[in-house]
Amino acid sequence: MGKTVRSNLVFALNGERVELKDVDPQTSLLNYIRDETDYKGTKRGCGEGGCGSCVVMLSKYDPESKEVEEFTINSCLAPVCSVDGCAVTTTEGFKHGKEPHPVHTRLAGFHGSQCGFCTPGMAVTIATSLRKCARKTKEDGGTAQPTSAEAERFIAGNLCRCTGYRPILDVCKSFASDVDIEDLGINTFWESSKDAHSNKGSMKAYQPEKDTKFPSFLENETGESLEVSSIRPGEERAWRSASSLTELFDMYRYERDEKKRDVHFVVGNTSSGVYKDFKPAVYIDISRIPELQRIRQTDSSLEVGAAVTLSKLIENLVKIGGPVFAELAEHLKKVANAHVRNRASVGGNLIMSQKYGFASDVATILLGSGSRVTMSSDKDNTAMDLEEFLAGPPLETNILQSIHIPSWEKSSDKESSKRVLFRTYRSSPRINGNAVSSINAAFLAVVQSSIPDGSKPASKVLQLRLAFGALGGPHAIQATKTEKYLNEKIINVDVLSKAVRILREELSSYTKDDKLHTAEYRLSVGVGFLFQFFKPLITETDVDAPPSYLAGVNGEVDNGSTENGGDTFAVGNGALMNGSVGEDSGVRSYGKSAPKTGRRNGFIGKQSFPISNEFYPVSQPTGKFGAVLQATGEAVYVDDIPLPPGTLHAAFVSSKKALAKITALDASDALASPGAKSFVSVKDIPPNGENVGNILELTEARDPVFAEDTVGFVGHPLGVMVADSYEHALEAAKQVKVEYDETSVGKPVLTVEEAAAKNLFKTTHLSSLGNASVGEVLVKGDYRIENVELFAGGQYYFYMETQTALAVPDEDDCITVYSSTQNPEALQLVLGAALGIPLHNIRVITRRLGGAFGGKNTKSHMIAVACALAAVKLKKPVRMTLDRNTDMEYCGGRHESKATYTVEFNKDGKITSLDSYVLMNGGFADDYQDLMGLLMEHSMRCYNWNSWRHVTKICRTNLPTRSMMRAPGEVQGNFFAESIIEHVASFLGLDPAKVREVNLHTHDSAIKFFGRKAAGGEVYFTLPKVWHRLKDSSNYEARKRSVRGFNQKNMWVKRGISIMPIVYQNLQQPRLARVTIFADASVAVESGGTEMGQGLFTKVQQATAYGLSRLWGDKGAGKVPLSKIRIVQNDTISLANGGYTNAGTTSEGTCEAAVNACNILVNTLRPVLLELQSKGTESPSWEAVVQKAKFQNLPLSAEGQHSTTGFGTEYLVCGAAVSEVEVDVVTGGVTILQTDLIYDTGKSLNPAVDIGQIEGSFVQGVGYYVTEEVKWDENGVLITNGTWTYKPPTIDNIPHQFNVELLNTAVEPDRILSSKGAGEPPLLLATSVHNSIREAVRSARADLQLLAGDQSGSEREKSSHFLMHSSATMERVKKLCGLYTVEQYLEWLSKKQVADVLA
Ligand SMILES: Cc1cc2nc3c(=O)[nH]c(=O)nc-3n(C[C@H](O)[C@H](O)[C@H](O)COP(=O)(O)OP(=O)(O)OC[C@H]3O[C@@H](n4cnc5c(N)ncnc54)[C@H](O)[C@@H]3O)c2cc1C
Ligand code: FES
Ligand code: FES
Repeated sequence: MGKTVRSNLVFALNGERVELKDVDPQTSLLNYIRDETDYKGTKRGCGEGGCGSCVVMLSKYDPESKEVEEFTINSCLAPVCSVDGCAVTTTEGFKHGKEPHPVHTRLAGFHGSQCGFCTPGMAVTIATSLRKCARKTKEDGGTAQPTSAEAERFIAGNLCRCTGYRPILDVCKSFASDVDIEDLGINTFWESSKDAHSNKGSMKAYQPEKDTKFPSFLENETGESLEVSSIRPGEERAWRSASSLTELFDMYRYERDEKKRDVHFVVGNTSSGVYKDFKPAVYIDISRIPELQRIRQTDSSLEVGAAVTLSKLIENLVKIGGPVFAELAEHLKKVANAHVRNRASVGGNLIMSQKYGFASDVATILLGSGSRVTMSSDKDNTAMDLEEFLAGPPLETNILQSIHIPSWEKSSDKESSKRVLFRTYRSSPRINGNAVSSINAAFLAVVQSSIPDGSKPASKVLQLRLAFGALGGPHAIQATKTEKYLNEKIINVDVLSKAVRILREELSSYTKDDKLHTAEYRLSVGVGFLFQFFKPLITETDVDAPPSYLAGVNGEVDNGSTENGGDTFAVGNGALMNGSVGEDSGVRSYGKSAPKTGRRNGFIGKQSFPISNEFYPVSQPTGKFGAVLQATGEAVYVDDIPLPPGTLHAAFVSSKKALAKITALDASDALASPGAKSFVSVKDIPPNGENVGNILELTEARDPVFAEDTVGFVGHPLGVMVADSYEHALEAAKQVKVEYDETSVGKPVLTVEEAAAKNLFKTTHLSSLGNASVGEVLVKGDYRIENVELFAGGQYYFYMETQTALAVPDEDDCITVYSSTQNPEALQLVLGAALGIPLHNIRVITRRLGGAFGGKNTKSHMIAVACALAAVKLKKPVRMTLDRNTDMEYCGGRHESKATYTVEFNKDGKITSLDSYVLMNGGFADDYQDLMGLLMEHSMRCYNWNSWRHVTKICRTNLPTRSMMRAPGEVQGNFFAESIIEHVASFLGLDPAKVREVNLHTHDSAIKFFGRKAAGGEVYFTLPKVWHRLKDSSNYEARKRSVRGFNQKNMWVKRGISIMPIVYQNLQQPRLARVTIFADASVAVESGGTEMGQGLFTKVQQATAYGLSRLWGDKGAGKVPLSKIRIVQNDTISLANGGYTNAGTTSEGTCEAAVNACNILVNTLRPVLLELQSKGTESPSWEAVVQKAKFQNLPLSAEGQHSTTGFGTEYLVCGAAVSEVEVDVVTGGVTILQTDLIYDTGKSLNPAVDIGQIEGSFVQGVGYYVTEEVKWDENGVLITNGTWTYKPPTIDNIPHQFNVELLNTAVEPDRILSSKGAGEPPLLLATSVHNSIREAVRSARADLQLLAGDQSGSEREKSSHFLMHSSATMERVKKLCGLYTVEQYLEWLSKKQVADVLA
């Protein structure tokens, strides 16, 4: 029968048939969905497989088995052609008709959606996982629900930058079969854990029978080959699918030899996430070739077709089991993330390793297991060992057909005591995947155990394979010299000691420094892996080895109780769970504190907060305004706005040099590329306009939007390329030719030291307190630590929605700009200056932002201005959305800083004076640099230094301009302050908590340091209360003893615990709101503040309901329900001069503005109410009052203001946190075991929103302190410019137990509705994680000193001080723990054994 070939691509999208003929094979499914359909829920977060915001469900029908397989994929990596014959479901498609899916409602109900940009991807991921579980039921007769442990893993491949994950994990667990409903956190379904069971019913159940079915029209369309092509000029590209090997080679020959086209085999195309520039002319889809899809088990091996996906391989390995296959499966579960694994083929991975040197895990573990491969050519098949294949020349014309993984079962033999040991290892900042490894390994040994002399057992190595990968070199290797040495050896301390030395030597020729990791780190971890592997054999052999020093080496730890305290005790004295200090209507608590400290599987948390009805519905934990819409994908972000006809797309053309003169710029090639329309640069600024992209009202500084003749950093925009599509604009932008002259401008300045040497300071901020003023001698203490230098790294915002704007020109020089900006008003001002038009011509509209964190202050203006300039030039609407890499390269972020300090202190730890000097890297232009010194100073005032002088200098460098990022300057300042305390404590050999305590602010010292206005009345100064309460409720002292006991028993896993306070000075600014009542009594509120996930709209909705209900005085609570009130988008023409959204105080100020507007309306309406009451209507409804007022033509719209004098009013926020961590001494990896946190929110405006802010902010701080590191190369190029290299926390990095308590102080007349902001300060509490890592490292270092026989007891403790810069990345931690720990330990053990024998 002849083969049928289709030239039309057919698939289903949310159940609807899609048929496409002229398709560009380079079009991703994501771009197709976003650009060609109305479904906008599928978001573009990174375009490289690393964030999960683009996840969709793919359903595939197998005509033979008639089964449908469903799984998630990253639509950004999948070519649209690859979904031929499949059904694609986006978050919109999960709705049941008009009804949201239970996953949607639970994401909203558990407060799992803040900015909402990650939420659709989360929804698809969770809903698909539930469907998969439900399907299993039918086949296996098992349970239809996942277990809690399984459910928690659902979202391991998705990033959320706002929530800190805990609430989303609760959503996942809420569907689990074994969930204890009382464990789940704060939600809108029940009021506290006590009511959980009775109100569970209000949470809509998942009913698998309601799931959409595979569209029957597709059942007959699968199986045929597809050949589609794009015939647009300049883009003659083709997608061809091969159904057999013969056909494949025919196609290949034809395309390559006859048509001379660049051909690329493709299976999952996930490599496009890594190698983005591969844009071949012809794709040959090899995924349907039967030989490549085969999985066959024989007696001796498992044959795996090269196109088999990693997920399928895992399934099969698990099914077969055994020591090798099971371990391989476990390791594979950590490769990439589930969405990638569902498409990624085994063969594709090996080719990436073989051809392009990709740091593969798959190659290493298959090499370790002794796998072989078969390659096919059009002539024959060739089989070879994997090692030979990897080391061979890059595969070009051949195809990898299959992989053969030996079954080692037969090598085990009980009778002859032979057994197979197989372990795999990987070092990665995210323990369970979603991050490539910095080194990996797989070891296989056949060992024979015997008792040769009748006393001790001995294990002899009969066969050994030691594979290492991700060494910085080209591919995975086998350490043959070490293997040779160990073969036939009985493993004991001396043998292992020698093996380790040989391995270090052998590996050193393979390990390389690359931009992210050093060779020495890789070497040390590699050696550690070998030690971990053989450790069980030395414990078996050398029973003299003290067990305490071996525990933990393979992840298992000795938790037993010790003299110093075991770790089994109830957490807290109940205060955290029950306490309340205000005079409120009660305390609510959700979730549980685990009864034990230490390591636990899974996540747990408790949230406690006082409830106040005083300003009802303010202070109620209501759900987020619009959260369900965010989950269903119907919420509209700027990039989702339906485009007016003829809209063009823009992309930055940026500098590749950090400092250079532009000598030539040629856009002619770029303009000739497909779809290109225009290049817009400084020359296109209108005659009355100005080259400005940022105006700082405070300082009147003006930063240009485009470079003119000199570029000042890599990424500096030279202009924008405009084209008919997003892809065309990006492609064309790459083709603009720029010539630079670097010789006449000198070397770029990249570091603060270089800037200081050249006196390149933008601003200098001086302050002094107490007896010390600049130039004076510090107040003397018993001791002095002098001139210590400490570094705090930078941080990138990583809002999930990148910068975006849409500019639509209008008549008479008017323009509407939709922008994802925090500050529409300020943007309007900049646009006016840049375009040279009056502000009344400019309407800036912002409905919501997909996260901002300070990055969409000034930076968003640059993008919007560039976009508007293009729109004005071309008289067409233009949209500009930055791709993730450009966003990272351009937007800068937090200032890297360096402190130098000298501190004097007494022997009890009381600091008598501090002299601190901070240099901050401000990058190229001005931005908000003037404020940074002040903010840095604020945060460093967090302790009573007694006497303090401080200088902050902002350095001008050739890096992207730094801007405000959540807790700007304050987090770095806090880090310095905390590190100084830690330094003093370690100098004195004291518990840092004691040193903190003696330097903790009293109300008096707070007045001295912050001023009377900020410090407020004594009753409101909650710091001492928070501190002691947390110490008590978290059981700090007992846990500290327990940690000490643990560390005495474990050498390879260390724990640390730290408690710390914060005092944070919040500044308020003027805010504006307008409340309008309509004829039907519905209400719209416009606010100056923008909604970016922080819950501003929700709080303003509550405040408006409260304010309008005041019409009835004290009896009005609830008279105007929340459902009547809608908060509408910001519009600078409608509500002018709306102000800024920043500093974490916009919500409260806007609430007050709304209440003030309501007061005006209430005054207008009161006579109407009285009139109605006087006419006999005892209790007139809101509708009746409004109707009458409308009839009387009363003004039903009012503007309210929250005004401050000067720059703003100030107040202090207090909080404290205890964090306990575990550090893996072999890799430097960190696990946060527990965080307990108390935060004073005053009368929280919405406890659910505030808890969300606190947890999210804390986890962003964890990112800053642990996983996120911004790195530049020596030319000023950002190395960490995407999800591959920059690692915001995932669920792997959050506290396993996270208990949050909101503290309520008494009514504070000076505070807005007695509340305090919670957006920024909690980020500082993550310093407790850094501090506790330091404690763990200190213990590891003390062990090393013990091994070396140095000192003892407290002397050793005292001298164990070391500096730990931020962030505490794995490599930094490992280096501090010691790069030669294994060798030192084995040497010590060996000496000890000799000594024992001699004794
Ligand atoms: C976000 C992300 C994270 C990742 N993390 C990890 C990780 O932690 N560890 C790890 O090991 N890997 C990781 N990977 C890599 C991933 O495993 C590979 O991208 C994937 O396995 C490649 O398979 P594919 O089918 O998508 O290959 P494709 O992208 O389709 O192809 C890859 C290359 O192989 C060629 N090719 C494919 N099959 C054959 C064949 N049979 N014969 C000849 N040539 C062929 C293609 O032409 C192409 O050059 C990650 C990938 C992503 C996107
Ligand atoms: S956009 Fe696809 S994973 Fe980030
Ligand atoms: S809610 Fe998850 S990224 Fe904003």
